[in-house]
Amino acid sequence: MAAKRLGIGFVGGGFVGQFHIRSFVGVRDADVLGVVGGDDDTAETAAALARSLGVGDAKAYASVTDMVADPAIDALWICAPNFTRLEVMEEIVHAIESGKGQLVGIACEKPLGRTAAEARKMLELVERAGVLDGYLENQLFSPGVVRGKDILWTRGAAITGAPFLARAAEEHSGPHMPWFWEGSLQGGGVLNDMMCHSVEVARHLLTPPGSPREHLTPVRVTAQMSCLKWQQPRYADILAKGSDGMLDYENRPSEDFARALVEYRDQDGNVKIVEATTSWCFVGAGLRLSMELLGPEYSMSLSSLDSGPKVFFSREVQGDAGEDLVEKQNAEVGLMPVVSDEESEYGYVGENRHMVRCFLEGKRPDENFADGVNVAELLMTAYKSAEEGRTIEFPPSDLETFVPAVARGEWNPKKTG
Ligand SMILES: NC(=O)c1ccc[n+]([C@@H]2O[C@H](COP(=O)([O-])OP(=O)(O)OC[C@H]3O[C@@H](n4cnc5c(N)ncnc54)[C@H](O)[C@@H]3O)[C@@H](O)[C@H]2O)c1
Repeated sequence: MAAKRLGIGFVGGGFVGQFHIRSFVGVRDADVLGVVGGDDDTAETAAALARSLGVGDAKAYASVTDMVADPAIDALWICAPNFTRLEVMEEIVHAIESGKGQLVGIACEKPLGRTAAEARKMLELVERAGVLDGYLENQLFSPGVVRGKDILWTRGAAITGAPFLARAAEEHSGPHMPWFWEGSLQGGGVLNDMMCHSVEVARHLLTPPGSPREHLTPVRVTAQMSCLKWQQPRYADILAKGSDGMLDYENRPSEDFARALVEYRDQDGNVKIVEATTSWCFVGAGLRLSMELLGPEYSMSLSSLDSGPKVFFSREVQGDAGEDLVEKQNAEVGLMPVVSDEESEYGYVGENRHMVRCFLEGKRPDENFADGVNVAELLMTAYKSAEEGRTIEFPPSDLETFVPAVARGEWNPKKTG
């Protein structure tokens, strides 16, 4: 590509779109020039945020097609809700195929699709359009993961052998928008929403630096899920009130807790284990990402809540509830951790640097839609395992047609135990 800078348009300027926009303060050679939203005013808000940060002269566009048609836009970041993935992607591809505009790259937030079939369709569409593809899995680019993986592999693994067990957990007290809680819209509950991060970052830690994903082959998945907190009448009521009655968690819950063991074989037949845990019922200071990597003579551990300063506020400090200390903050007094630079710590800065460099150099990003497809396949296998209460050999024969019971509105642990 001849251009030296990448003009970026956002599809979706809500919570995560704005997180990305803030991260562009730390990214070179890119300008945030546009935002398209749904039927709220977040496109204008996000465009104004980009302008105020000086990361691009962004404006709100009326449609995805209009944004693709603008020659200033070279790449799109898809940050719209899960249930709009395919319609957004189809509109992009139609705009390109009908000659309205051209793109160099498309980066898409997790999950790539609500099912393995949707994720594969996203891959097919991007290939049909002949556009570079990036899968936005920020945790792989978190500085702690990058440095920890590098040190363990170049020192511990080089001298005593490769790691064999990776643990990853993502926990907070529940998503901010009603659509995340509605199984059919989101694709599931916390397993789909957050285990996509945990299974992928753990797999990444177990993969030798520079090796392709195929270095490890998934062989079986054992998972469990439950609704521990939010189906209780008191909490279901909070969800119903907070969603103008849209959510009925007593009768139509999704899982707020899930764990999975993914067993891999490396190219020499050695067993590698990923242990992932996720929940929407963790009431701590705020969002907590934890990772561990264990090898024969070494280990590493990382918690996003342990990495920065801590502040203390006495009970005399009575202010409004906020998220000024950490994402999904649960309290404002007492001893509280502060994540000093969330966009960097969670990996958004590193991820966007990588995507921008790849798109400018005409290279496929290291994390791309094929990775997103594999993550969706693992998650669907985990759902199948949890639903059937048994270990599932990977890949199960019905992977391409499998839709989790929670996404079909047919899962209720109170009724089925
Ligand atoms: N990487 C992460 O850790 C992380 C964190 C949060 C969300 N996400 C993912 O990002 C995506 C967005 O999540 P969010 O929390 O920002 O949601 P959100 O509800 O806060 O924002 C959604 C945005 O999409 C826009 N939108 C809705 N329908 C649209 C459509 N048809 N076309 C274009 N825009 C549309 C809305 O106007 C809004 O700006 C989801 O897929 C979610 O899974 C990733």
